[in-house]
Order: sequence, then structure tokens, then C-alpha cells
Amino acid sequence: MADRLAGKVAIITGAASGFGQATALQFASEGARVVVVDLDEPRGTATVEEIGGGGRLVVGDVSTAETAARAVATALDEFGRLDVLVNNAGIAQTEMRDTWDTAEDVWDRVVQVNLRSVYACSRAAIPEMLKAGSGAIVSVASIAASVCVGGAAYAATKGAIVSYTRHVARELAGKGVRVNCVSPGFMRTPMTTGERFGLDEDAQEAQLAEFGRRVPMRHVGSMDDIANAIVFLASDDAGYVTGQELIVDGGYVIR
Ligand code: NAI
Repeated sequence: MADRLAGKVAIITGAASGFGQATALQFASEGARVVVVDLDEPRGTATVEEIGGGGRLVVGDVSTAETAARAVATALDEFGRLDVLVNNAGIAQTEMRDTWDTAEDVWDRVVQVNLRSVYACSRAAIPEMLKAGSGAIVSVASIAASVCVGGAAYAATKGAIVSYTRHVARELAGKGVRVNCVSPGFMRTPMTTGERFGLDEDAQEAQLAEFGRRVPMRHVGSMDDIANAIVFLASDDAGYVTGQELIVDGGYVIR
């Protein structure tokens, strides 16, 4: 355990699984108290139990102002402050035919969950950070912002997160609030292993190995690779960093 986030209070969306969960656990081990926000109550509860006394759970859809407000209220009521917002919750675009032809309901849901959530949660958190005169927002975008993976709707939301990050960072730069994002490449999480589509363990490993062969560093990344980047950007170690996209992809974008 280190103490790079000692005394800080963070909201992490989508923290019942994948990067969000790994990040919540790293934040706790770095001394932060964490509000886990997720739709998945059982897994959210398990994450909070693993965190221990410094964890709280808010169950809800992070693309709504109502859930965002409850998350901020929980941070303030339970822990008395809000220092960090991690906008991590997101969904994959499951429809992978020619994606210019994406069905309206798929398009709307991907935009709602991946992009509107960043707006809704940032909008709820920023006034508290401005009152305190300090804060850090880290959103999870994707290499899909830069290269053609993941489908058009997904890519559009992730590109928008990078643009939103730059714009809001500029607006808040003189007010003590830093805004950055992390773009993961091909990583091992429940979103990508294929387990949700019923692939057995061998098939999952074969799929991840195939992803890994496309990457210059020759393997997929881990959940902790992303949590490490988020901890850095949220901590005072990144005190002079704002408006940036930190790409964590084993060299995929530069290949
Ligand atoms: P995951 O599917 O393991 O976890 C996502 C979590 O978000 C789940 O616990 C889910 O219940 C929650 N969630 C989904 N919609 C929600 C909503 N409307 N309100 C509240 N919670 C909601 O996903 P993973 O892989 O950890 O992805 C996290 C982020 O990383 C996403 O934004 C994803 O787009 C991004 N990403 C993932 C990559 C990968 O290789 N897995 C690569 C690039 C980006």
C-alpha cells in the first residue's frame, strides 16, 4: 500500500467490473475512500465489501442526472468531500455489421451510456470541485477514438470523450480542477474475453491471443494497466497535467 491518494474521496462509475473495479481497489489501497456507482447491485456490493470501510455503493444508471446527483450526495454525506471523478462506465457496441447502418436503438443506447454519462456525472461533480478549489476528473475513452475498432457508434462516443476532456480542461484550468482521459487498447476485461457470449476458457484465451498478435508489444493489457494510469492522473503526481489523452495500448495506435 502506498498513499498517493491519501485523504481523497472518489466517485468511480462502472466499478462493479473490469477497469472500474480494479481502479476502485487500487484507489482504496492508495488511501482513497470510494463511491462505487453501477447498475449491477450484487457485483457492486462485492466490490464495496472488498474495499472495506472506505467504500459505499450507489446503484443506478450513470447516464442520468438523478444517479449522478445521488453519487455526489453520497460522497459529501458519507465522506465530507469530493476530490476525484472517474467516468469509466461504458458498453460495447454489440451490433457489428456495417456500422454506418447501426440501428437507432443501439446508437442511442451507446451514446447514452458512454457519452451522456460523462456529461451527467461531470456536471454534478464539478460544482463541488469548484467550491473546494481543487479536483481531478479522469474519463475512460478508447483507442477507438483514433483507429477503426469497436464500431462507428462506439468510436463516435469515445472520440467525443477526448474532445469533451480537452474542452472542459481548458475551461477549468485556472480553477484548480484537472480533466484528463485514458484510452485503453486491447485489454483483458469481461467486456472482451467473450465470457459474456458463452465462450469457454480455451476459446477466450485463443481470442485474447489473437488480439495480442495485433499489438506491437505482443500481448493484451491488463485491468491494472488501466487502473495504474487512472491513479496517476487522479493523483498529485499529475498536478500539472490537464486536457490529455493517455493512450495505454502496448503501441497499437503507433504500429
Ligand atoms: P465491463 O463491462 O467489465 O464493466 C463496465 C461496468 O459498467 C459494469 O459493471 C456495468 O454494470 C457498468 N455499467 C454499464 N452501463 C452502466 C450504466 N448505464 N450505469 C451504471 N453502470 C453501468 O467493462 P470494461 O471492459 O471494464 O470497460 C470499462 C470502460 O473501458 C468502458 O467505458 C469501455 O468502453 C472502456 N474500454 C474498454 C476496453 C476493453 O478492452 N475492455 C478498451 C477500451 C475502452
